[in-house]
Amino acid sequence: MNEPKSPLEQKPDYLVCICYGVMYSEIVQAIKGGAKDFDALQEELMVGTGCSSCIEEIHEILQEEG
Ligand code: FES
Repeated sequence: MNEPKSPLEQKPDYLVCICYGVMYSEIVQAIKGGAKDFDALQEELMVGTGCSSCIEEIHEILQEEG
């Protein structure tokens, strides 16, 4: 019963990009689905194209998951 958890289970989900309502889990899923850099995530989810305040957070998620 002590199997390693997937990153999705380790962290509670939360809102990363307020402007576009993008959740942490959606970003992780997009990275797993092949969006390996910020540009790809931006294209797929529109994250970071509004107020830009989430950009640093997205880069951190990319480093953790990429
Ligand atoms: S919170 Fe992501 S662009 Fe504003």
